[in-house]
Formats: sequence, C-alpha cells, structure tokens
Amino acid sequence: MAKSTILTGLRTNADYHLGNYLGAILPMVQMARKHSSDYQINMFIPDLHSFTTPIDFDTFYEQSIRNLKVFFAAGLPLDNENVRVYRQSHVTAHSEMTVILNNFTSFGQLSRMVEFKEKRERIDEEFVSVGLFDYPVLMASDILLYDAEYVPVGDDQRQHLELARDIAERFNNRFGETFVVPKTIKQQAEFFGIEEPLRIMSLQNPDKKMSKSIDDPNGTIMLFDEPSVARKKVMSAVTDSVGSVNFDRVNQPGITNLLILLAVLCGKSQEEVNKEFTGMSQYGELKNAVADQVELLLEGVQKTFAELDDVRIMEKLGQDELYANEYSQKTLLKVQKAIGLRK
Ligand code: ADP
Ligand code: TRP
Repeated sequence: MAKSTILTGLRTNADYHLGNYLGAILPMVQMARKHSSDYQINMFIPDLHSFTTPIDFDTFYEQSIRNLKVFFAAGLPLDNENVRVYRQSHVTAHSEMTVILNNFTSFGQLSRMVEFKEKRERIDEEFVSVGLFDYPVLMASDILLYDAEYVPVGDDQRQHLELARDIAERFNNRFGETFVVPKTIKQQAEFFGIEEPLRIMSLQNPDKKMSKSIDDPNGTIMLFDEPSVARKKVMSAVTDSVGSVNFDRVNQPGITNLLILLAVLCGKSQEEVNKEFTGMSQYGELKNAVADQVELLLEGVQKTFAELDDVRIMEKLGQDELYANEYSQKTLLKVQKAIGLRK
C-alpha cells in the first residue's frame, strides 16, 4: 500500500527571522526526519500564495530559492526520496485545481475566513484582491492534489484546513470517492502531539510576536543578521523595572521572552532555565546568555548555509518537481473525469 502523506508549506515572502526558524522551520525539519521512513513528506514553497501580501517582485525568484535552502541548512535531508521539495508555481495542477474547486466552495464560507478578515483590515490601500480572498481554495488544492492526510499547520491555518476537508467531502459526496479527506484537526493534533506552539515575541515590543510583517528591525532577529548585530539587538531588548528575573508573561513579558528563547536555544526545559535565572537582580547576565546562544545559532546556520551544495539542491528541486507534477496530474485527471472535462 502507498505511504500516507504528510504535507506542509511555509510562505516565503521575505527573509526568515528567528521566530520563523525556531517556531516553524526547525519543527518542520524535525518532523520530516522523524517520519520520513514511514510517510511520504512533502514540504513545498507556496510561492503563488506570496502575491496575496506585498512582496518585492524583483528579488522574489532568488528569495524563494534562498528560503528553500534554509530548510537544508536546518537539517532537512537532501538524499531522501521520501522527502520531497517543490515550488507550487512549478506544478501547474495547483492553479488548475483551484479554478475547478472555486466552483465547489461557497462565497459565504470563504467570507468567514478569519485570516481574510484580519488581513483585509490591515491592508491600508483600498485594493483587496480576489487572490487574498481565494487563498484558502488554493491551499485546499495544495493539500488535496497529494492525498495528504496529515497537514501540520499553526493555529491560524486550522480554519483553512477545515475548509479543505469540507471541499473534499462535498466533492466526494457528489462524485464518489475522489479525494482523500485530510484527518480531522483533533486526529492531527494527536498524531503530532499536542504542544503549545512556540511564540517568540519582539525584542522591542514584547507584547507583539516577532514578525517580518511589522516594521520592527531592532525587535526582530533575521536569520542572516551579522551575529554581532543580533547580539546587540538582544542586549538592547526591552525589559522592565521590576528588578528581578521572573517567568511572568503578564508583568515581565520581555524577560519571559528571553527565558523562553534561552530554553529553546539551549535545548533545555523551561523549568531548568527558569530555576537557573529566577530571582537574579541583574538582567545583563540573562541577556548575555541569550546573546551567546543567538550568536552561536546564527554562526552555525549561516556557515552551513554557505557550504550547501547549490547544484545538488537545484537538481533535487528539479527531480521533486517532476514527481510533484506526475502525482498531481493523476489527481487532477480524476477530478476532470468526474466533472466531465475528460473521458
Ligand atoms: P510573519 O508574521 O513574520 O509574517 P508568518 O506568519 O509568515 O510570519 O510565519 C510563518 C510561520 O512561522 C508561522 O506559521 C509560525 O509557525 C512561525 N512564526 C512566525 N512568527 C513566529 C514567532 N514570532 N514565534 C514563533 N513562530 C513564529
Ligand atoms: N497558508 C499557509 C501559511 O500561511 C501556507 C500554506 C499554503 C500551506 N498552502 C499550504 C500550509 C498547504 C499547509 C498546507 O502559513
């Protein structure tokens, strides 16, 4: 029997920051390494999704490749056929399937997507694109084309996953078993182990998450920051005037963020790190410890990144895009036959 598929994608509009790396990339790479002997793992770059928010068109092509390479720098295996990487835009079935599935998705349900409502409000221009509205249908195509049963995503994407399940079920009810319906959110959570997702906060506004979308260069550590620059950002992190270190998200969000960062970066439990630092009256020691770890991490990732075999990566991308095209065309053909576009 064919292996079940685990599929996930990470948007690639700009360089990644430490939050992306620790909160999404490393966990994805670890998941891929853990499950690649028993599952087919598809990790793709949803580059067609990128246009739904502002991007730099001039650098976009290189940006996508650069971000893909970060996954390999983080330890994604290059020579494992069960781990496939591809760009959405290089697999034409994603777009074709979206045009079809648009007709099996209700306007009302799409209008209720929280991410759409939120992003719509944040866009300052008058122009709210159909692309932004239709984004979840493209995401459903990404998933359904590959018979993916498990789709690890953050909280904010769960509603989109539910939509993909609804579309698949609606289609199957009308035309017979065509799509593999992804597992329920609950089953997925059980499979991946329910954990509280990591949230790294901005070093300057510790009530907001570290984010590339917000103009906050000193609060955000970019993966390609000079390690010494990153050190300075940590050392000038906003803290408080309490005067003693405590893990307290409400009253000491800046200090708590540093404690969380330190635990993740050292691979220690939060309790262990808290025990070491709680009660200390000097914040400098904690900042120094975090800065050391951040420097170490950036130096390591940047060195591995520089040593990656670009030719081999592009070769793998080419091979995997062939695979993805072959696989997705089969699903597309099933759908085309079901609705009378093909015999
Ligand atoms: P941004 O907010 O910087 O635009 P995205 O929303 O594109 O980032 O993030 C992609 C993924 O990276 C998210 O789904 C999440 O898993 C992870 N991520 C982003 N910011 C953080 C953060 N501050 N802490 C932990 N994980 C994060
Ligand atoms: N929408 C996801 C995000 O913003 C990225 C994404 C696109 C995705 N297609 C997907 C994730 C399919 C999982 C499966 O993070």
